[in-house]
Amino acid sequence: MRHALEDTLDTMKYTLLLLAAAGNALPLTEYTGMFVSIPEGALHLKTLHHVFQGPGPKLSHKPFGFAGQATGGSTNLSAVYVVSNAAELREAVALPYTKTIYVNGTIQGNQLPNGTLATCQDYIDKTGSPGSAVHGFNFETYLLSLNATYVALVEQAIADNTTFEGRNATEYRALLGHQNGYRPVVAATQKAQVGFKLTNNTSLIGLNGNAALNGINLYLSSVDNIWIRNLKLVPPQDCFPAPETFPSSWNALYDAVGLVTASNVWVDNCELQDQLSGEYVEPDIIEPGWQVDRFDGLFDCEDGTDNVTFSHNIVRNHHKSLLLGGGTKEADRDLGKMHFTIFGNYFNGSASRNPTMRFGSFDIFSNIYEARNDKPPRFNDAGQAHRREALDSTPLDAVFQYHLGVYNQSRVQVQDNGFLQYGAFANDTSRIFTISEAILPNRPAKVCIRETAPHFPSTMNGAAIASLGQVMADTVDFFVESGGAVEGAVVLTCDGFGGYELPKVFEGPGDVLEYVLSEAGQVR
Ligand SMILES: *[C@@H]1O[C@H](CO)[C@@H](O)[C@H](O)[C@H]1NC(C)=O
Ligand SMILES: *[C@@H]1O[C@H](CO)[C@@H](O)[C@H](O)[C@H]1NC(C)=O
Ligand SMILES: *[C@@H]1O[C@H](CO)[C@@H](O)[C@H](O)[C@H]1NC(C)=O
Ligand SMILES: *[C@@H]1O[C@H](CO)[C@@H](O)[C@H](O)[C@H]1NC(C)=O
Ligand SMILES: *[C@@H]1O[C@H](CO)[C@@H](O)[C@H](O)[C@H]1NC(C)=O
Ligand SMILES: *[C@@H]1O[C@H](CO)[C@@H](O)[C@H](O)[C@H]1NC(C)=O
Ligand SMILES: *[C@@H]1O[C@H](CO)[C@@H](O)[C@H](O)[C@H]1NC(C)=O
Ligand SMILES: *[C@@H]1O[C@H](CO)[C@@H](O)[C@H](O)[C@H]1NC(C)=O
Ligand SMILES: *[C@@H]1O[C@H](CO)[C@@H](O)[C@H](O)[C@H]1NC(C)=O
Ligand SMILES: *[C@@H]1O[C@H](CO)[C@@H](O)[C@H](O)[C@H]1NC(C)=O
Ligand SMILES: *[C@@H]1O[C@H](CO)[C@@H](O)[C@H](O)[C@H]1NC(C)=O
Ligand SMILES: *[C@@H]1O[C@H](CO)[C@@H](O)[C@H](O)[C@H]1NC(C)=O
Repeated sequence: MRHALEDTLDTMKYTLLLLAAAGNALPLTEYTGMFVSIPEGALHLKTLHHVFQGPGPKLSHKPFGFAGQATGGSTNLSAVYVVSNAAELREAVALPYTKTIYVNGTIQGNQLPNGTLATCQDYIDKTGSPGSAVHGFNFETYLLSLNATYVALVEQAIADNTTFEGRNATEYRALLGHQNGYRPVVAATQKAQVGFKLTNNTSLIGLNGNAALNGINLYLSSVDNIWIRNLKLVPPQDCFPAPETFPSSWNALYDAVGLVTASNVWVDNCELQDQLSGEYVEPDIIEPGWQVDRFDGLFDCEDGTDNVTFSHNIVRNHHKSLLLGGGTKEADRDLGKMHFTIFGNYFNGSASRNPTMRFGSFDIFSNIYEARNDKPPRFNDAGQAHRREALDSTPLDAVFQYHLGVYNQSRVQVQDNGFLQYGAFANDTSRIFTISEAILPNRPAKVCIRETAPHFPSTMNGAAIASLGQVMADTVDFFVESGGAVEGAVVLTCDGFGGYELPKVFEGPGDVLEYVLSEAGQVR
């Protein structure tokens, strides 16, 4: 960690050095001799008086791939700020011009204007006016209200003219009846608190390896030209998720980063995970056995988002990590857009969606995937018994399912990735890919696997996978045979796929591992 005040250079020099180091589009020499002053009184902002004083992180990467044109806020040297709390961050991201925002330390998404951290109950209490009926919302009562058997017992008590669990049954029945309607109302209060909407032409950058957005949903809706760099990105836990199926399937809101119709977005050197420590968050247990999963995705992109590079990030200990393509209903908005470069990332303990892909072009280049695989292989498992070791102590959500989800009409290009697995089925390759929504042979998903020179075979635990293309073909066969896909709806071909310059040319798999270990994640 560096300390700002230890240095003696003036602010301007720092800014220039920093922007150059941060991979600014213009070379450093273009700034030489240029004097940019920040006039007194120019920043008439409520809280944002911290104009950046440097020095910042030495970030060496430059944008490349599909977001190669993105400049973020780097072109405006007179708008460089540092923020260290939720109020400052909220004010900074809203500035309607090109800017760079450095994050200093950990910013808590639930930090209220007076500095205290909101609890789930605070969101309920802050909703509506004092004494508002919506304050009768309670998450456990809400879950009970969805239970027809339970509600029938309350109604029976009304018919019997008795109390229910010591309460007036008529009043309790009415309260139960309101829970489902109250839920989105109190949820809106949490959303307003933890959601931070970015605006066009913004760089959001961690000042050093301690910079974190904790419990924050960065929301990129119809915005263009964004850099998000050198940050720990921890999504909010949804206080009020809706159950899908008992006990563990939930519809929770709040991605760490969510893109809706966004373009030219570069996410680099970030660490996306369930909580600051990096550990997986166990679901909350609520009677009679609900396992409440309060997380949505880490990086979910939809609705005609385009030109995104997700590079040199660590994705750890999360269960539904990168959903690229929100759903089949978005086909019209997505087809022809949704271009993604996924390069040099370390996926560690990410149970699924690394990424899952629909309706776009997805380049999965030089990533490392580490996972504990305790599930039996889907195919080619003749030599192994179908054990389920250690599953009992692992939350269902944390159990590794698959890495690359080839969904409706996706065009997926795969090269130079490495896989590391441990657990009961350490060498199993049958969960590298999964296939879904493959029913349209006239509009097939296309997968191009490059594993011959200048590329090389992918490795599993350091040993070459004889043919990843064959693994893909076997995966297709498996899904066709089990009814999960239609013959011809996924095609293995490299026709029509292209490339572009990448930050590094690799000699072999060991080279990729070394590079990703040294380049992925925050810069200290
Ligand atoms: C963003 O930058 C582009 C290109 O410099 C410019 O045309 C556009 O007006 C900017 N938008 C905002 C909101 O500053
Ligand atoms: C650059 O930042 C200044 C604020 O310091 C702002 O007034 C100006 O509009 C910005 N320029 C662009 C092109 O966004
Ligand atoms: C970052 O925060 C620390 C601790 O509050 C402070 O000492 C330091 O000056 C801040 N850095 C900048 C650039 O504002
Ligand atoms: C901060 O604000 C919240 C909600 O407005 C309130 O409940 C809490 O008591 C306040 N805390 C302090 C220390 O003022
Ligand atoms: C529903 O309520 C009944 C009666 O209280 C209870 O036995 C059952 O476990 C509940 N089921 C769920 C899914 O909450
Ligand atoms: C219901 O019970 C209350 C007291 O427990 C009693 O006063 C009332 O008369 C009862 N009503 C009927 C319709 O039986
Ligand atoms: C229960 O509440 C209803 C509605 O407030 C009221 O009419 C009824 O008298 C109450 N019943 C008892 C037993 O107190
Ligand atoms: C941001 O950029 C997008 C895409 O260029 C544009 O449609 C939108 O109007 C811009 N927003 C603002 C507030 O300028
Ligand atoms: C994405 O980039 C391509 C190539 O530069 C460009 O043609 C296209 O308009 C971009 N898409 C958006 C939504 O900006
Ligand atoms: C991946 O995660 C496991 C389990 O948390 C940890 O032991 C291992 O060190 C991680 N790998 C890297 C390269 O950080
Ligand atoms: C996995 O393969 C390696 C060789 O690549 C071998 O040493 C190891 O025993 C295998 N592990 C299991 C669980 O089969
Ligand atoms: C795939 O997308 C198409 C739209 O292009 C849609 O008609 C079809 O229903 C989708 N298939 C599945 C299985 O969802």
